[in-house]
Amino acid sequence: MENLNNILEEALIEVNKASSFALLNDIKVEYLGKKGKLTLLLRNLGSLSKEERPKAGQLINESKQKLTIAINNKQQQLEQIVLQQKLTSETIDVTLEGNGQDLGALHPITQTTAKICGMFQSLGFKVESGPEIEDNYHNFEALNIPKHHPARAMHDTFYLDADYLLRTHTSPVQIRTLKQWATSGEESLAIICPGKVYRCDHDQTHSPMFHQIEGLFVAKQTSFAELKSLLTEFIRNFFVSNELKIRFRPSYFPFTEPSAEVDIEWGKNPDGSTKWLEVLGCGMVHPQVLANVGIDTEIYSGFAFGLGVERFCMLQHGINDLRQFYDNDIRFLAQFK
Ligand code: DAH
Repeated sequence: MENLNNILEEALIEVNKASSFALLNDIKVEYLGKKGKLTLLLRNLGSLSKEERPKAGQLINESKQKLTIAINNKQQQLEQIVLQQKLTSETIDVTLEGNGQDLGALHPITQTTAKICGMFQSLGFKVESGPEIEDNYHNFEALNIPKHHPARAMHDTFYLDADYLLRTHTSPVQIRTLKQWATSGEESLAIICPGKVYRCDHDQTHSPMFHQIEGLFVAKQTSFAELKSLLTEFIRNFFVSNELKIRFRPSYFPFTEPSAEVDIEWGKNPDGSTKWLEVLGCGMVHPQVLANVGIDTEIYSGFAFGLGVERFCMLQHGINDLRQFYDNDIRFLAQFK
C-alpha cells in the first residue's frame, strides 16, 4: 500500500509521455490489465487486516479511476493529433480548376446544315420541314414520278407498307409547302428544307440515312438564269472562293424541266484536265408538279435544287470517309468544336 502513490505517479508520467496508441495500450496493460500493477494490489487486499481492507480498497479503486481517466484523455488527445495530421495532409483546394469540364459541340453535319440554311435565310428563304415517314404520293407521285417510272428504282426505297415509306429525298417538302402556299395569296415562295433522308444503300460513300437540303423558289417571273446565278453565288460563298470554277451539266429529274447537275472544279486529273465533282441537282420546277398542287402554270413558275449535306461537309473539311459522321468517335467529333 505504501507503493500505491508511487505506482500511480509513475503511471501518470508514462501516460503523459506516451506518443502513440500502441504505447498507451501497453501502459494500460501494465497497470490495469489482469496482471497489472494496480490490479495485483487489489488482489492482495486479502493479506491486510479486516479493518484496513475497506480503506485500502477504496484508495486503490480511486487510483485505478484516476489512471483510467488519464488514459482516456490521452487517447482523445492522440486521436485529435491524428485527425489534424490527416486534415492538413489531405486538404482539398476548392479553388483548383476541375477536370472533365469539356463542353460538347454541334455535330459537323449540324454545323454545315446551319451554315447553308443561314446563307439562304439571309436572302429571305424560310426554313421548312416535313415528315421522315412519307407516303407514295408526296415522295413520288406528286413529284411526277408515277408508279412504274424508272426513277423509282434509283431511289432504293425503304417501304414500311404498300403506301408508307421512309422519304428518299427532301423534295416531298416542296409538295407539302406548295399546297399551303397555293391558297395563301402570297406573291412568292422561297424555302429551304433541311432533313434526314433514307436509302437502302451502305458503303464508303453511301449511308442508309443521310442529310439533304432542298431549295425552292416560286413566283410570277423566274428563270434558269436566276437559278444559275443564285447557286453560283451560294457555292462560291460556301467554299470561300470567288474564282471556283462551276459548271451546270444537263441532267434529268422527273420533277424539273430543264434539269441540271452542278459540278465544281476539284483539282486536276493526271492528264492536266479539270477534275469535276458533282455537288447538287437543280432545275426549273416541272409544270406538272405545280399543276398537281393546283397552281396555275400560266402565271407561276419556279426553280428548285437539292444537295447532300454530307458531301458539302466532307469537301469543306477534307473528310474522306462518310461513315466517320455516324461512328460517334469523340476524337473525330472534337475536331469540329
Ligand atoms: N431529290 C433529288 C435527289 O434526291 C435531288 C434534287 C434534284 C432536288 C433536283 C431538286 C432538284 O429539288 O431540282 O436526288
